[in-house]
Amino acid sequence: MSTQTETIRRITVPQIARRKGGTPIVSLTSYHAHTAAIVDKYADFILVGDSLGMVMHGMDSTVGVPLDLMIMHGQAVVRGTKKALIVVDMPFGTYEESPNMAFRNAAKIMKETHCGAVKLEGGARMAETIRFLTERGIPVMAHIGLTPQSSHVMGGFKTQGRDEDSWPLHEADAKAVAEAGAFAVVLEGMVEPLAAKITKQIDIPTIGIGASAECDGQILVLEDMLGMNPWTPKFVKVYGSLGPMIEKAVSDYATEVKDRSFPSEDEIYR
Ligand code: KIV
Repeated sequence: MSTQTETIRRITVPQIARRKGGTPIVSLTSYHAHTAAIVDKYADFILVGDSLGMVMHGMDSTVGVPLDLMIMHGQAVVRGTKKALIVVDMPFGTYEESPNMAFRNAAKIMKETHCGAVKLEGGARMAETIRFLTERGIPVMAHIGLTPQSSHVMGGFKTQGRDEDSWPLHEADAKAVAEAGAFAVVLEGMVEPLAAKITKQIDIPTIGIGASAECDGQILVLEDMLGMNPWTPKFVKVYGSLGPMIEKAVSDYATEVKDRSFPSEDEIYR
Protein backbone atom coordinates (compact mmCIF):
# COMPACT_ATOMS: atom_id res chain seq x y z
CA MET A 1 0.00 0.00 0.00
CA SER A 2 1.37 3.44 -0.82
CA THR A 3 0.54 6.67 0.92
CA GLN A 4 1.18 10.31 0.08
CA THR A 5 2.73 11.00 3.48
CA GLU A 6 6.45 10.94 4.29
CA THR A 7 7.53 7.76 6.10
CA ILE A 8 8.63 8.62 9.61
CA ARG A 9 10.77 6.13 11.51
CA ARG A 10 10.83 6.99 15.15
CA ILE A 11 12.76 5.46 18.01
CA THR A 12 10.55 2.68 19.32
CA VAL A 13 9.52 1.57 22.80
CA PRO A 14 11.56 -1.70 22.57
CA GLN A 15 14.62 0.32 21.50
CA ILE A 16 14.29 2.48 24.63
CA ALA A 17 13.77 -0.60 26.80
CA ARG A 18 16.93 -2.20 25.37
CA ARG A 19 19.02 0.77 26.47
CA LYS A 20 18.99 -0.54 30.08
CA GLY A 21 22.58 -0.28 31.30
CA GLY A 22 23.75 0.98 27.88
CA THR A 23 24.24 4.41 26.33
CA PRO A 24 22.33 6.83 28.57
CA ILE A 25 18.90 7.87 27.31
CA VAL A 26 18.51 11.59 26.52
CA SER A 27 15.10 13.10 27.06
CA LEU A 28 13.44 16.47 27.54
CA THR A 29 9.92 17.75 27.81
CA SER A 30 8.44 19.76 24.97
CA TYR A 31 4.98 21.19 24.45
CA HIS A 32 5.15 22.87 21.02
CA ALA A 33 5.96 21.96 17.43
CA HIS A 34 8.77 24.55 17.14
CA THR A 35 10.75 23.62 20.27
CA ALA A 36 10.07 19.92 19.71
CA ALA A 37 11.65 20.13 16.23
CA ILE A 38 14.92 21.29 17.84
CA VAL A 39 14.78 18.81 20.72
CA ASP A 40 14.02 16.00 18.26
CA LYS A 41 17.57 16.16 16.87
CA TYR A 42 19.08 15.18 20.23
CA ALA A 43 16.47 13.39 22.33
CA ASP A 44 15.66 9.67 22.32
CA PHE A 45 12.21 10.44 23.66
CA ILE A 46 10.26 13.64 24.19
CA LEU A 47 7.77 13.87 27.02
CA VAL A 48 4.69 16.03 26.62
CA GLY A 49 4.56 16.42 30.38
CA ASP A 50 1.61 17.65 32.38
CA SER A 51 4.13 20.14 33.83
CA LEU A 52 2.83 22.20 30.89
CA GLY A 53 -0.02 23.24 33.20
CA MET A 54 2.47 25.07 35.42
CA VAL A 55 5.11 26.02 32.84
CA MET A 56 2.86 27.12 29.96
CA HIS A 57 -0.48 27.86 31.55
CA GLY A 58 0.45 29.43 34.90
CA MET A 59 -1.30 26.83 37.09
CA ASP A 60 0.06 26.31 40.61
CA SER A 61 0.09 22.51 40.29
CA THR A 62 -0.51 19.84 37.62
CA VAL A 63 -3.77 18.74 39.25
CA GLY A 64 -5.98 21.00 37.09
CA VAL A 65 -4.58 19.93 33.71
CA PRO A 66 -7.39 18.65 31.42
CA LEU A 67 -7.06 15.70 29.04
CA ASP A 68 -7.90 17.81 25.98
CA LEU A 69 -5.01 20.18 26.73
CA MET A 70 -2.57 17.24 26.84
CA ILE A 71 -3.98 16.01 23.53
CA MET A 72 -3.63 19.43 21.87
CA HIS A 73 0.01 19.82 22.96
CA GLY A 74 0.70 16.17 22.11
CA GLN A 75 -0.55 16.75 18.55
CA ALA A 76 1.72 19.79 18.17
CA VAL A 77 4.80 17.87 19.36
CA VAL A 78 4.07 14.89 17.10
CA ARG A 79 3.64 17.27 14.14
CA GLY A 80 6.96 18.97 14.87
CA THR A 81 9.08 15.82 15.17
CA LYS A 82 10.33 12.90 13.09
CA LYS A 83 12.76 10.86 15.15
CA ALA A 84 12.11 10.77 18.90
CA LEU A 85 9.58 8.54 20.61
CA ILE A 86 6.79 10.82 21.87
CA VAL A 87 5.38 10.05 25.31
CA VAL A 88 2.29 11.92 26.55
CA ASP A 89 1.41 12.28 30.23
CA MET A 90 -1.97 11.10 31.45
CA PRO A 91 -3.28 13.97 33.58
CA PHE A 92 -4.67 13.67 37.10
CA GLY A 93 -8.12 12.08 37.27
CA THR A 94 -7.94 10.30 33.91
CA TYR A 95 -6.55 6.90 35.00
CA GLU A 96 -6.56 6.33 38.77
CA GLU A 97 -10.19 5.20 39.17
CA SER A 98 -9.98 1.92 37.23
CA PRO A 99 -7.99 0.10 34.55
CA ASN A 100 -10.98 0.48 32.20
CA MET A 101 -11.04 4.22 32.62
CA ALA A 102 -7.27 4.37 32.13
CA PHE A 103 -7.55 2.33 28.92
CA ARG A 104 -10.30 4.56 27.51
CA ASN A 105 -8.30 7.73 28.12
CA ALA A 106 -4.91 6.31 27.10
CA ALA A 107 -6.44 5.01 23.85
CA LYS A 108 -7.94 8.47 23.22
CA ILE A 109 -4.52 10.08 23.73
CA MET A 110 -2.84 7.60 21.38
CA LYS A 111 -5.51 7.79 18.67
CA GLU A 112 -5.76 11.59 18.69
CA THR A 113 -2.04 12.46 19.03
CA HIS A 114 -0.35 9.45 17.37
CA CYS A 115 2.16 9.42 20.24
CA GLY A 116 4.05 6.18 20.95
CA ALA A 117 3.41 5.76 24.67
CA VAL A 118 1.76 7.28 27.73
CA LYS A 119 3.16 8.05 31.17
CA LEU A 120 1.31 7.80 34.45
CA GLU A 121 2.26 8.44 38.06
CA GLY A 122 2.24 5.85 40.85
CA GLY A 123 4.05 2.68 41.83
CA ALA A 124 2.58 -0.52 43.31
CA ARG A 125 -0.92 1.01 43.45
CA MET A 126 -0.88 1.48 39.63
CA ALA A 127 0.63 -1.93 38.78
CA GLU A 128 -2.73 -3.53 37.89
CA THR A 129 -3.52 -0.63 35.54
CA ILE A 130 -0.07 -0.73 33.92
CA ARG A 131 -0.51 -4.45 33.25
CA PHE A 132 -4.04 -3.88 31.85
CA LEU A 133 -2.80 -1.20 29.44
CA THR A 134 0.35 -2.96 28.23
CA GLU A 135 -1.52 -6.23 27.65
CA ARG A 136 -3.92 -4.25 25.42
CA GLY A 137 -1.27 -2.52 23.28
CA ILE A 138 -0.57 0.68 25.18
CA PRO A 139 3.09 1.14 26.17
CA VAL A 140 3.41 2.71 29.61
CA MET A 141 6.23 4.70 31.17
CA ALA A 142 5.82 4.75 34.96
CA HIS A 143 6.74 7.63 37.29
CA ILE A 144 7.61 7.14 40.97
CA GLY A 145 9.31 9.01 43.83
CA LEU A 146 8.09 12.60 43.84
CA THR A 147 4.80 12.37 41.95
CA PRO A 148 3.54 15.94 41.45
CA GLN A 149 -0.09 14.90 40.88
CA SER A 150 -0.11 13.67 44.52
CA SER A 151 1.50 16.82 45.91
CA HIS A 152 -1.56 17.51 48.05
CA VAL A 153 -1.13 14.13 49.79
CA MET A 154 2.66 14.45 49.98
CA GLY A 155 2.43 17.96 51.49
CA GLY A 156 4.23 19.67 48.59
CA PHE A 157 7.04 18.91 46.17
CA LYS A 158 9.42 17.09 48.52
CA THR A 159 12.48 14.99 47.76
CA GLN A 160 11.67 11.37 48.54
CA GLY A 161 13.80 8.86 50.45
CA ARG A 162 15.48 11.23 52.91
CA ASP A 163 14.45 8.79 55.62
CA GLU A 164 16.11 5.45 54.87
CA ASP A 165 13.17 3.62 56.47
CA SER A 166 11.05 4.68 53.47
CA TRP A 167 13.40 3.09 50.90
CA PRO A 168 11.71 -0.34 50.84
CA LEU A 169 8.43 1.30 49.75
CA HIS A 170 10.10 3.08 46.82
CA GLU A 171 12.01 -0.08 45.90
CA ALA A 172 8.74 -2.04 45.95
CA ASP A 173 7.13 0.60 43.70
CA ALA A 174 9.95 0.28 41.16
CA LYS A 175 9.78 -3.51 41.19
CA ALA A 176 5.96 -3.49 40.87
CA VAL A 177 5.87 -1.22 37.79
CA ALA A 178 8.70 -3.15 36.10
CA GLU A 179 6.95 -6.49 36.72
CA ALA A 180 3.64 -5.04 35.49
CA GLY A 181 5.18 -4.29 32.09
CA ALA A 182 6.23 -0.62 32.16
CA PHE A 183 9.00 -0.15 29.58
CA ALA A 184 10.80 2.54 31.64
CA VAL A 185 10.27 4.44 34.86
CA VAL A 186 10.88 8.08 35.77
CA LEU A 187 12.51 8.52 39.19
CA GLU A 188 11.72 12.08 40.23
CA GLY A 189 13.01 13.96 43.30
CA MET A 190 14.66 10.97 44.96
CA VAL A 191 17.83 10.91 47.07
CA GLU A 192 20.81 9.85 45.00
CA PRO A 193 21.74 6.53 46.68
CA LEU A 194 18.15 5.29 46.54
CA ALA A 195 17.80 6.14 42.83
CA ALA A 196 21.16 4.44 42.12
CA LYS A 197 20.08 1.38 44.11
CA ILE A 198 16.75 1.10 42.28
CA THR A 199 18.54 1.45 38.92
CA LYS A 200 20.62 -1.64 39.79
CA GLN A 201 17.60 -3.60 41.07
CA ILE A 202 15.21 -3.45 38.12
CA ASP A 203 15.62 -4.53 34.51
CA ILE A 204 13.86 -1.57 32.84
CA PRO A 205 15.57 1.81 32.23
CA THR A 206 15.28 4.40 34.96
CA ILE A 207 14.99 8.03 33.83
CA GLY A 208 16.18 10.46 36.49
CA ILE A 209 15.07 13.99 37.26
CA GLY A 210 16.56 15.29 40.48
CA ALA A 211 17.64 11.70 41.21
CA SER A 212 21.00 10.16 40.24
CA ALA A 213 23.59 10.34 37.46
CA GLU A 214 23.57 6.51 37.73
CA CYS A 215 20.08 6.38 36.19
CA ASP A 216 19.84 4.87 32.70
CA GLY A 217 18.77 8.25 31.31
CA GLN A 218 17.89 11.78 32.33
CA ILE A 219 14.99 14.13 31.69
CA LEU A 220 14.62 17.87 32.30
CA VAL A 221 11.80 20.30 31.72
CA LEU A 222 12.94 22.24 28.63
CA GLU A 223 11.88 25.68 29.85
CA ASP A 224 13.75 25.10 33.15
CA MET A 225 17.04 24.18 31.50
CA LEU A 226 16.71 27.05 29.02
CA GLY A 227 16.49 29.56 31.86
CA MET A 228 12.98 30.71 30.93
CA ASN A 229 11.43 30.40 34.36
CA PRO A 230 12.12 32.90 37.14
CA TRP A 231 12.27 29.94 39.57
CA THR A 232 13.78 26.53 38.83
CA PRO A 233 14.17 23.53 41.15
CA LYS A 234 17.57 23.34 42.89
CA PHE A 235 18.60 20.22 40.96
CA VAL A 236 18.19 21.78 37.51
CA LYS A 237 21.36 22.75 35.67
CA VAL A 238 20.46 25.79 33.57
CA TYR A 239 22.09 25.59 30.13
CA GLY A 240 20.68 28.80 28.59
CA SER A 241 19.31 32.22 29.51
CA LEU A 242 16.31 32.56 27.25
CA GLY A 243 14.21 34.48 29.81
CA PRO A 244 16.57 37.49 29.85
CA MET A 245 17.06 37.21 26.04
CA ILE A 246 13.31 37.34 25.42
CA GLU A 247 12.94 40.25 27.81
CA LYS A 248 15.70 42.21 26.04
CA ALA A 249 14.15 41.61 22.60
CA VAL A 250 10.70 42.68 23.81
CA SER A 251 12.10 45.74 25.55
CA ASP A 252 14.15 46.79 22.46
CA TYR A 253 11.02 46.43 20.33
CA ALA A 254 8.89 48.43 22.78
CA THR A 255 11.50 51.21 22.85
CA GLU A 256 11.65 51.38 19.04
CA VAL A 257 7.85 51.53 18.75
CA LYS A 258 7.56 54.26 21.38
CA ASP A 259 10.36 56.48 20.04
CA ARG A 260 9.26 55.89 16.43
CA SER A 261 12.59 54.31 15.43
CA PHE A 262 10.76 51.08 14.47
CA PRO A 263 11.62 50.51 10.79
CA SER A 264 8.98 51.32 8.21
CA GLU A 265 7.82 48.73 5.72
CA ASP A 266 10.17 49.82 2.90
CA GLU A 267 13.18 49.60 5.22
CA ILE A 268 12.33 46.06 6.38
CA TYR A 269 11.61 44.56 2.95
CA ARG A 270 14.31 46.40 1.01
O1 KIV B 1 5.30 16.54 33.64
C1 KIV B 1 6.53 16.46 33.50
O2 KIV B 1 7.19 17.32 32.90
C2 KIV B 1 7.19 15.29 34.07
C3 KIV B 1 8.67 15.31 34.11
C4 KIV B 1 9.13 16.24 35.16
C5 KIV B 1 9.24 13.94 34.28
O3 KIV B 1 6.55 14.39 34.50
